[in-house]
Amino acid sequence: DSVKKIALLGMGTVGSGVYEIIERQKVNMPDKIGCVLDIAKVLVRNKKKYENTVPAEKLTDQWSDIINDDSIDIVVEVMGGLEPARTYIKEALEKGKHVVTANKDLMATHGHELLDEAKIHGCDLLFEAAVAGGIPIIRPLKQCLVGNDISEVMGIINGTTNFILTKMTEEGMEFADALQLATDLGYAEADPTADIEGYDAGRKLAILASIAFHTPVTFDDVYTEGISKVTAKDIRYAHELGCEIKLLGIAKNTEDGIEVKVHPTMIPIDHPLASVKDSFNAVFVHGDAVGDTMFYGRGAGSLPTGSAVVGDIMDIARNMRFQCTGRIGCSCYKRIPIKEMKN
Ligand code: NDP
Ligand code: HSE
Repeated sequence: DSVKKIALLGMGTVGSGVYEIIERQKVNMPDKIGCVLDIAKVLVRNKKKYENTVPAEKLTDQWSDIINDDSIDIVVEVMGGLEPARTYIKEALEKGKHVVTANKDLMATHGHELLDEAKIHGCDLLFEAAVAGGIPIIRPLKQCLVGNDISEVMGIINGTTNFILTKMTEEGMEFADALQLATDLGYAEADPTADIEGYDAGRKLAILASIAFHTPVTFDDVYTEGISKVTAKDIRYAHELGCEIKLLGIAKNTEDGIEVKVHPTMIPIDHPLASVKDSFNAVFVHGDAVGDTMFYGRGAGSLPTGSAVVGDIMDIARNMRFQCTGRIGCSCYKRIPIKEMKN
């Protein structure tokens, strides 16, 4: 009972951050959560690539080594993509294993179905890292702000595009060079089109809107326009008007229904969002009781994202000790109409 066993699916940018943080925190775990976390298995496709970083006995390229191992308590999905991630998570929940994922693509598309599955099996399915990397935003919305009627969630929720716009603005860097740098730093998605065209921000916005408005919103509901058409000339003109250009995700609960959209936006230079630079993200939330709140921090990268994933893992391990897992479900929904916003 004093050791909780983990299977890590993926050992890339996020997986290696999770691995490093768990190693660093090993000695503190008993004081913090009353048990130790042991990464017992690491699933990858190409084992050779990881020979020098992961002990051979932990490394596997076979899902069956994990799903058939009854000693694994928590499955951590940081591979990305819809399949096989969806199937693996579903199977893990069916076997009573708790799950943590950083996969916004999956959560924005099949999240509602997977959360229902978790509820059926009395398991936790946590996904704090799926929105805004290291910034705590899912839990604050789901728990701390639940006593509010939220009217708006808005902000910079893609690190790669914010990094590119910052480099173009401040260093006159070409779009392609800035994208290459963001990729090298581990910010960009496996297919960076998702970042550039606003799909990644759209996925995150669907997740935030679902939680904020207690209504299932999926990626298909979000209007998306990325930054691929933003030029150095646009940025110069914006400056002449006293503005910065930022890619914003905006979700509003209006009288006509929920509005969810992602697009480049001119922001006055003295607005707090204008000074959010590089891969940093910032999310504004307006609640009827609390008023305005703002969440700010690193929205991408190995350790910041690992921080959110490890927070979820430790939360589950602590819940397991007190036998109170499966308590953070969010499948009791109101169904506010969603405004159709054609792309
Ligand atoms: P990477 O491409 O860096 O790493 C992916 C890892 O998963 C690799 O180790 C890869 O192994 C493994 N993998 C992929 N597919 C499979 C498969 N079918 N079977 C077994 N192993 C597989 O991705 P990231 O770490 O950047 O992203 C992971 C997830 O986290 C994604 O969902 C992403 O959207 C999300 N995320 C990423 C953030 C970031 O800053 N990068 C921030 C927040 C969320 P191999 O090398 O052998 O192919
Ligand atoms: N590609 C994503 C971004 C990673 O740049 O924000 C964090 O979700």
